[in-house]
Amino acid sequence: MPIVLAIESSCDETAVAIVAGERGQRASILASEISSQIPLHQPYGGVVPELASRSHSLILRPLVETALQNAGLKMAQIDAFAATAGPGLASSLLIGNTAAKAMASAMRKPFLAINHLEGHLLSPFIDVTELPPHIALIISGGHTLLLRVDAAACYRKLGSTLDDAAGEAFDKVAKMIGLPYPGGPNVERNAIGGNPSAFSFPRGLLHEPHFDFSFSGLKTSVLYTLPKLENLDDSLADLCASFQAAVIDVLLQKSLRACKEQGIFYLALSGGVSMNQALRRTFQSACDAKGFTLSLSSPALCTDNAAMIAFAALLRHQSGQNDPLDSPIHPNLPLVS
Ligand code: KG4
Ligand code: ZN
Repeated sequence: MPIVLAIESSCDETAVAIVAGERGQRASILASEISSQIPLHQPYGGVVPELASRSHSLILRPLVETALQNAGLKMAQIDAFAATAGPGLASSLLIGNTAAKAMASAMRKPFLAINHLEGHLLSPFIDVTELPPHIALIISGGHTLLLRVDAAACYRKLGSTLDDAAGEAFDKVAKMIGLPYPGGPNVERNAIGGNPSAFSFPRGLLHEPHFDFSFSGLKTSVLYTLPKLENLDDSLADLCASFQAAVIDVLLQKSLRACKEQGIFYLALSGGVSMNQALRRTFQSACDAKGFTLSLSSPALCTDNAAMIAFAALLRHQSGQNDPLDSPIHPNLPLVS
């Protein structure tokens, strides 16, 4: 059975995973190690690239050793090595790429350069034997992407954000209201018990016929609301719940319309924002009501991880693909052009 070791280092998580599986069979995650840099960047309210790359290079080697140990494998038993090639921070991508290429070269095994977004897109399907045709919504800190997926590597873009990504909107609004980085989980926590209709925030581009998104108007609307509040603490839960509801509403309505227009009644969510419990519940009940199938990444696979990169690499390795050792990193690598 082919075994792939992958490194994810596109932003502020250093991750190593080992995934194995035969073509047409369910893949197994043999190890999935993540070393989060959140405490390192928290004092700055966002990711500092120089600190991120330095931390990746320090943590990567022990993390590879831990992954091999937890999988009960020796390096010589790995059949292919992979790394995220983009999109992401150049200085961070380089660390994981160089390490994976060095291992591939030393062990005389193939190397695979993986698109981070493809990793997210495939993450809800790690435990199925075949990728179903579906509408994919990738919602992360850097991207908001709606796609039609007909098969592996057969993707058509339906829409994307014209300004902020959904996760970026969560992070920026969190910063505005004094919640720590990363904003998404903190906004969600503070929204609990809040009234999602307390503030009527705008739903950007909701009634446009296309599938693009815009969250900058929503962000500005929250900014203009803040000085009007008598006491932010008293309104915090309502504010967070109303902001969250506006983001979820647009994502849901556009995704459901995409399913209907494309005639594919199967929706899959991935990326860090798909961790959000309110979003998961809202999508689940809407899909149940319409008789649509919904696939969600398991929580451990929503935010950045290497198992999704190893799985994407495994599928490509199973079909005989690999990449040259001099293949470049691409900080702006698109999933579909
Ligand atoms: O996929 P991811 O880990 O990294 C990127 O590829 O960007 O996504 C990170 C994003 C951040 O913006 C973070 O605030 C958001 O996902 N996020 C959430 C939640 N957990 C993480 N947003 C809303 N609710 C959450 N529970
Ligand atoms: Zn990501």
